[in-house]
Amino acid sequence: TVYPDKQIASVKVAERIARLIRRKQEAGEQAVLGLATGATPVGVYEELVRLHKEEGLSFQNVVTFNLDEYYPMQPDAPQSYVTFMNENLFDHIDIKRENIHIPDGTLALEEVVTFCLNYERQIEEAGGLDLQILGIGRTGHVGFNEPGSAPNSGTRLVTLDDLTRRDASRDFGGKENVPTKAITMGIGTIFKAREIILMAWSGKKAPIIKKAVEGEVSGEVPATYLQLADNVEFVLDADAASEL
Ligand code: GLP
Repeated sequence: TVYPDKQIASVKVAERIARLIRRKQEAGEQAVLGLATGATPVGVYEELVRLHKEEGLSFQNVVTFNLDEYYPMQPDAPQSYVTFMNENLFDHIDIKRENIHIPDGTLALEEVVTFCLNYERQIEEAGGLDLQILGIGRTGHVGFNEPGSAPNSGTRLVTLDDLTRRDASRDFGGKENVPTKAITMGIGTIFKAREIILMAWSGKKAPIIKKAVEGEVSGEVPATYLQLADNVEFVLDADAASEL
């Protein structure tokens, strides 16, 4: 779906999330959301906060699982995805803190595998992801599933691509300060979501969107795996869609 600009697109995505939350509330059920970080979903979170403050949208029945976190990373560091999620969403809504899940960047290396298996189990025990939202990196990564990721991959520790670290360097005051690793949900984890929305804005994303939508399905551009799922929607602004 192509919208003229990212403001309209973000409001549309937020409205879909709000509808899901309300539908689940009426049924007395939890809504299980897979959330993303980066600049792309910021407008969606802004609109969700507005819906909470001005239209009484409650997040009491919402359980969230974030896609990824840098490793190593302290949760209170300015660059952590914990800080990002608190500042952009969680601090402004009525979500229960115990319902928030973000991969833990403070684990010792030998604890990571157990943590990742447990993350998968927690998603399953919550009833599976109702909706996963995604951005896309210029390497074609979703979450931090960099080129070389397998289609059935689960939550795991990965090594970040050089381009990804370069793109993150501004937040860290230089590429040398960007962690070399991250913990990310896998392509397989994302695929199990009942609905997936990938968002991309601006001409900077146009070349990778063209590859993701029209290119050959390959681990070299992990987002191409999404062509194999039938519950995926790309929500784009006109500039991101300009090469399609
Ligand atoms: C990071 C995140 C991804 C995100 C990507 C794009 O690498 N781990 O989940 O999609 O950046 O970021 P942006 O939305 O800022 O373009």
